[in-house]
Amino acid sequence: MYCTRSVTDDLIWIGANDRQHPVFEAAHPIPRGMSYNSYLLLDEKTVLMDTVDRSVQTQFFENLDHALGGRPLDYVFVHHMEPDHAATLGDLMLRHPEATLVCNGKAINLIRQFHCTDPRGAVLVNEGDTLCTGRHTFAFYSAPMVHWPEVVVSYDQTDKILFSADAFGTFGALNGPLFADEVDFDRDWMDEARRYYTNIVGKYGPQVQALLKKAAGLDIRMICPLHGPVWRRDLSLILDKYAKWAAYEPEERGVLIPFASIYGGTETAANILACRLAELGVKVDMMDVSVTHYSYVLAQCFRYSHIVFAAPTFNNGLFDSMEHLMRDLAHHNLQNRTVALIQNGSWAPASGKLMGEILGTMKNMELLQAPVTLKSALAPGQEGELEVLAAALATSVRGEEPAQEGPRQEDVQKPRGFVCKICGFVLESDTLPDDFVCPICRRPASDFEPLSEN
Ligand SMILES: Cc1cc2nc3c(=O)[nH]c(=O)nc-3n(C[C@H](O)[C@H](O)[C@H](O)COP(=O)(O)O)c2cc1C
Ligand SMILES: [Fe+2]
Ligand SMILES: [Fe+2]
Repeated sequence: MYCTRSVTDDLIWIGANDRQHPVFEAAHPIPRGMSYNSYLLLDEKTVLMDTVDRSVQTQFFENLDHALGGRPLDYVFVHHMEPDHAATLGDLMLRHPEATLVCNGKAINLIRQFHCTDPRGAVLVNEGDTLCTGRHTFAFYSAPMVHWPEVVVSYDQTDKILFSADAFGTFGALNGPLFADEVDFDRDWMDEARRYYTNIVGKYGPQVQALLKKAAGLDIRMICPLHGPVWRRDLSLILDKYAKWAAYEPEERGVLIPFASIYGGTETAANILACRLAELGVKVDMMDVSVTHYSYVLAQCFRYSHIVFAAPTFNNGLFDSMEHLMRDLAHHNLQNRTVALIQNGSWAPASGKLMGEILGTMKNMELLQAPVTLKSALAPGQEGELEVLAAALATSVRGEEPAQEGPRQEDVQKPRGFVCKICGFVLESDTLPDDFVCPICRRPASDFEPLSEN
């Protein structure tokens, strides 16, 4: 049985929702499900805007049959060849051999690769090309890497609708409401829109900015994305967020504390820091990276201006869940944040140095001060260090001048000292005496090396 909704007088949403798969693209949890949007235009020609994921193909083909009402399918605009939209394109071509594909040359290659078939007579579109379907005229604009190289968006010059592919999409099934103004988007959807953006296209900020620039030159009254609600009112709400996200600008001045903790020592320090920040009137939030999927933490790291990473040392390395998160942040090009570190280790704390190294690969991550070091748990009297850190964060969040310049990031990445190559014990000293013996594994000074080449 079909399940469709009218978008305009001659445009029908014929997509479908998947609420059964626990993850999207084998990576991101989708507890609220996922929508795969597809649209059919009934002009003098009929035009299908993309197909759908294989998980919802039965519903999609029933919707398409109903919406076509026996008419032939004239055009299929292929905005994006990723299988969450194009998995059913092969089936569609078999069912509707009369349809002409409209796409760019990169999409043709991907159709060959994914569907082992050569689309006959496809109309290839380049930047700015137009196509008239009767009452409507469409212009095509490339949007490479939003989210794949072949992505194009199309703009209906007649009704001023942007078919935006993955851009402006979100995780979450459509539970009846189709339009963003039929829900409280800011309250109920923005977190998932942010998580979708940051995880799916967060890495490609400059390319998203290029698309936003093209969009700014168009009179857009409606945005039809491939996932999530359709925008027909208050477009600035989502456009403003995109401008910030694409520029790696924080939305909130405040502190996020992603932490990992095995036995609770690091967590207690993170708790105390969060309390001191709240008492100072600073917006603060905490996330346990061992139990929170990193896609959620990544999204919040894009949101906040300040981030304190707190993690134990683990077999001379950085605790795994924190390492995963931080590599993911670097991978998604997160930049322009002020950060601080809390490290923990019972015999040779190294997590601060390791977190500093990952931060050192990222752009414009300003380290506020040297890491707070815990040796198993906060020692009596060490609370003061967290108070100092809270005060420094509060000053920075408010945009005030710090009382005195903190140590620079390079100072932290290159701590002074020598590390035992056998057990990882760190001697915090400028010099290594010849007769030095490792207090942990009893190896001689010759088994030590400088912490870094400073
Ligand atoms: C499997 C394992 C490996 C560890 N490896 C190291 C290490 O290489 N160096 C170190 O200083 N501490 C190491 N530790 C100790 C923890 O870093 C330390 O106990 C820390 O206090 C744990 O913090 P938490 O209380 O927040 O879990 C290890 C702990 C575990 C459980
Ligand atoms: Fe995609
Ligand atoms: Fe997609």
